[in-house]
Amino acid sequence: MYEAFLQFPTDFIWGVATAAYQIEGAWNEDGRGPSIWDTFSQSSSNIADNQPGNVAVDHYHRYQEDIELMRFLGIHNYRMSLSWSRIFPEGRGRVEQRGLDFYNRLVDSLLSANIKPWITLYHWDLPQALQDRGGWTNRDTVAAFAEYVDQVTRSLGDRVKHWMTFNEPWVASICGNLLGVHAPGLKDIQTTLAVAHGMLLGHGMGSRIVKTNVRDSMVGIVNNLAWIEPATNTEADRAAAHRWDGAYNRWFMDSIYKGSYPEDMLKWFGPLVPEIRQDDMKLISTPTDFLGLNYYTRRLVHYDPKNPFIQASQTYRSHTPRAEFEEFEDWPEGLYHTLCRIRDEYGNPPVYITENGTTTLDEISDDGCVHDPVRVDYLRRHFSAAYQAITEGCQCKGFFVWSLLDNYEWAFGFSKRFGLVFVDYTDNLHRIPKDSAYFFRQVIRKNGFRIHSR
Ligand code: FCB
Repeated sequence: MYEAFLQFPTDFIWGVATAAYQIEGAWNEDGRGPSIWDTFSQSSSNIADNQPGNVAVDHYHRYQEDIELMRFLGIHNYRMSLSWSRIFPEGRGRVEQRGLDFYNRLVDSLLSANIKPWITLYHWDLPQALQDRGGWTNRDTVAAFAEYVDQVTRSLGDRVKHWMTFNEPWVASICGNLLGVHAPGLKDIQTTLAVAHGMLLGHGMGSRIVKTNVRDSMVGIVNNLAWIEPATNTEADRAAAHRWDGAYNRWFMDSIYKGSYPEDMLKWFGPLVPEIRQDDMKLISTPTDFLGLNYYTRRLVHYDPKNPFIQASQTYRSHTPRAEFEEFEDWPEGLYHTLCRIRDEYGNPPVYITENGTTTLDEISDDGCVHDPVRVDYLRRHFSAAYQAITEGCQCKGFFVWSLLDNYEWAFGFSKRFGLVFVDYTDNLHRIPKDSAYFFRQVIRKNGFRIHSR
């Protein structure tokens, strides 16, 4: 048995993350236009328990209380996203001033609580008006995105310096357009690849606009990378794992960091690959200041001829009996390996872990508290993995926990709780910090934590 204190570098950033659609609510207030997530979630069969995200956790009206919570927990960095259709209700053209005013108030209140906002420009909620014209498969959407980025960076860029263009382009393209489990609920390979390409173009264009409009800015994209391993050592499974890695990791990393899609995957998708115009790849690989990394899982992959996309599927392995996503394996080693891979294969850019966290079966106990030892243990082990990578030369600069509070977990509705703060859905959305929130407060205060191991 030994004990040690893991002391993080003095400039290490600790924070929490949220996304607009998952917390704001107020879906049709102050002139906000509908997004694809309104359309999708209001069609009840798409969501667990048939719950739309109309109210979510009502952050739009309770943002002062939520900032107060962050202040109480000692949080100084907050990753949030903007609802595009709050600002451009029709996707482009007319600006809704009341939407901009909301974000201005929010940013000012955060700053006066000594909390830095880190803004994600696109966390999946495309204005419905743009989807009606083909969404990300239409290059006009990329132009509309540029207009939106220009507007918000001009409005907020005097105070907000940290910007992220897209959150998880693979989830947004594949879950939304191939698997049909996210908005807009389509199931088509060609559309999926075109959507991914459109988002990557938007990333390149958006990051250039941030750099032009915001003095001293830091800009990057947020990719969710998983650690991939073949489920068995057969040649078929090894090839399947390589394809999985190609479609989900390398497609979004090689394009951005190497300026080309992976050769093997271009060949695999063949005629399904969308038109790539001259200069597209140059735009996509525009140099940025950091990579945002969302890490949740390892994926064990096997050959599956029935999967039309890459003839590969995931073998699920769960370590703990709890309300985790079946497809998420609690595997902190994968975070360590992924950070090392970014160091070795992608030029060791500065990395902020922009999301990591877990869902557990939380409830209010008799003492009025919410005890979530599984989450505390999960975070401790993932923080340790990041620490180990830092000691081995990875430029991991910060860690944002997903999420500040329980919220609307997309197709899972309110059935999954990822928060450090509990939200009581049966009692007026009352907020109660969980044990993990107090644990995190201590970690931030000491910029590290004690580990015991055998
Ligand atoms: C990520 C999303 C985030 C949240 C977590 C659990 O893929 O970026 O919005 O849903 O998963």
